[in-house]
Amino acid sequence: MRSYEKSVALYETARRHLAGGVSSNVRYASVPVPLFFARGEGARLHDIDGNVHIDYVLGNGPAILGHAPPKVVEAVAASLAEGQVFAAQNPREAELAERLCALLPSSEVVRFTSSGTEAVLMAMRLARAFTGRDRILKFEGHYHGWSDQAFISARPPLNEAGPADAPVPVAGSPGMPASVLGDVAVCGWNDLDLLAAALERHRGEIAAVIMEPVMVNGGAIEPAPGFLDGARKLAHEHGALFILDEVITGFRAGLRGAQGRYGVAADLSIYAKAVAAGFPLALVGGRADVMNTLLDRGVMHGGTYNGNVQSMAAALAALDILAAGDGAAYRDLEARGKELMEGLQALAKKHRLPIVVQGLPAIFQTFFTSGPGPRNYRESAACDRDAMLAFHAALQEEGVRAQQAGKWFLSTAHDRPVIEETLAAADRAMAKLVRH
Ligand SMILES: Cc1ncc(COP(=O)(O)O)c(C=O)c1O
Repeated sequence: MRSYEKSVALYETARRHLAGGVSSNVRYASVPVPLFFARGEGARLHDIDGNVHIDYVLGNGPAILGHAPPKVVEAVAASLAEGQVFAAQNPREAELAERLCALLPSSEVVRFTSSGTEAVLMAMRLARAFTGRDRILKFEGHYHGWSDQAFISARPPLNEAGPADAPVPVAGSPGMPASVLGDVAVCGWNDLDLLAAALERHRGEIAAVIMEPVMVNGGAIEPAPGFLDGARKLAHEHGALFILDEVITGFRAGLRGAQGRYGVAADLSIYAKAVAAGFPLALVGGRADVMNTLLDRGVMHGGTYNGNVQSMAAALAALDILAAGDGAAYRDLEARGKELMEGLQALAKKHRLPIVVQGLPAIFQTFFTSGPGPRNYRESAACDRDAMLAFHAALQEEGVRAQQAGKWFLSTAHDRPVIEETLAAADRAMAKLVRH
C-alpha cells in the first residue's frame, strides 16, 4: 500500500488557514485527501510522501508538453528579470497575437485574459453588446467557468433539471443570484432538433449559442457528425453569434483545436489551458467586427495580469514546439493516445469490466456502463460513478493518476514506454477491481 501520511498531515494543517485546504473546489476530488505534490517532471508527478504518479490529469489540461517542459521553462526564466506587469503593452503580446491569428481558423483579432472563466465572461459580454440581446443559450453538462453568469446547468442534479427536451437552468452554487437564470436558456446537447426548438422558444432573444465543441466536462463526448456546423447555421438564422469554448480542446484536439479538427468556424472562440503549457493565459479570438467593439463601442474588458510578460513568453515558447512541422507533435500525441485508449479497452475486455473508453486521443474518458458510450450529459451522468471511483483509487495505487471522473489528458511527454508502463499498471488495477 502506498502511504500518503505526509499529504494527510499537511492537509490537516493547511485547512486551518487555507479554506478547505485547497485553492479550487475541483481539487477536493482526490483520495485519501487532496494530495500535495513536490514537483512535476515530464509525464510524472512526485508527491511529498515520495510516491511517483504517471500523471494524466496534467493540471486539468494545461500541461500539454508535460510538467516543467525545458524550453518553456528556459524562455520564462529568461524573461523574469525583464519584469512582470507594466499596465502597458510588452512587445511579446503583439507577436503572440499575430502568430495566433495566423494559425487559428476563425480568429482575426484576439484579446488576452488570465483565466478561461474571464475569457468566457468577455465573450458573452461582446455577444450581448454586438447583438443588443441579453440571453445566452448554453448546453447541459457544458462547463464555462465558475462565474455567476456561466456556472449554470454545468452538472445539474437530474431531479432539478427538468425534462430532457426542455431543461430548466440550474444554478451551480449557493450564492448565485436567481436573477442570472433569467439571462440563459439551457438545451440538451448534440441534437439539432432540440436546439432548433430552444431557439424558437426564445426567438429574437438569444445573443449567442455557446458550447464546448467536444463536451469534455460533461463526459469527453464528440459532436455528432454535422452537429457543430448545423448549430452554427441555426444560431445565425436566429441572429445569434456562435461561440466555441475551446478552453480544453484548443491546442489539444489538434494544433488548430476542435475547429481545425471538425472544419467549423466560430464567431468567437475561447482558448486557455494548453496555449501557454501551464502558465496562466486565456484569450478570446474572433471576427474583427465583433472583437473591435472593445474599441469602437467601448465594451469594457480589464485585468491587471492580462498579457503579463511570463505568460506571453511561455505561450510563444510553447507555440514554437506545438506548431513545428505544422503540428507534428499532434500526430505523435494522436498515435500515443489511440494506443492508450485501445489498450485500456482491450484490458477491460480481458477483465470483463463494463468499461467504455471514449473521446479524443489527447483527452478521453473511461466510463463504467454496460450500454454504448454516452452521447450527452444525461447519459454520461447515468454511468456508474462509484465503479469509476474504485478504478481511480486502484490506478493511483499502481502509480497512475487519472481524474476521479475518469478523464485522461495526454501530453507529448507520454512516450511509448510511459504508455506501456501505464497499460501494465491498468492491467493490475483492473485485476484488483475484479477481485474486490
Ligand atoms: C471548457 C471550459 N471553459 C472554461 C473553463 C474555465 O477556465 P478557468 O479554470 O481557467 O477559469 C474551463 C475550466 O476547466 C473549461 O474546461
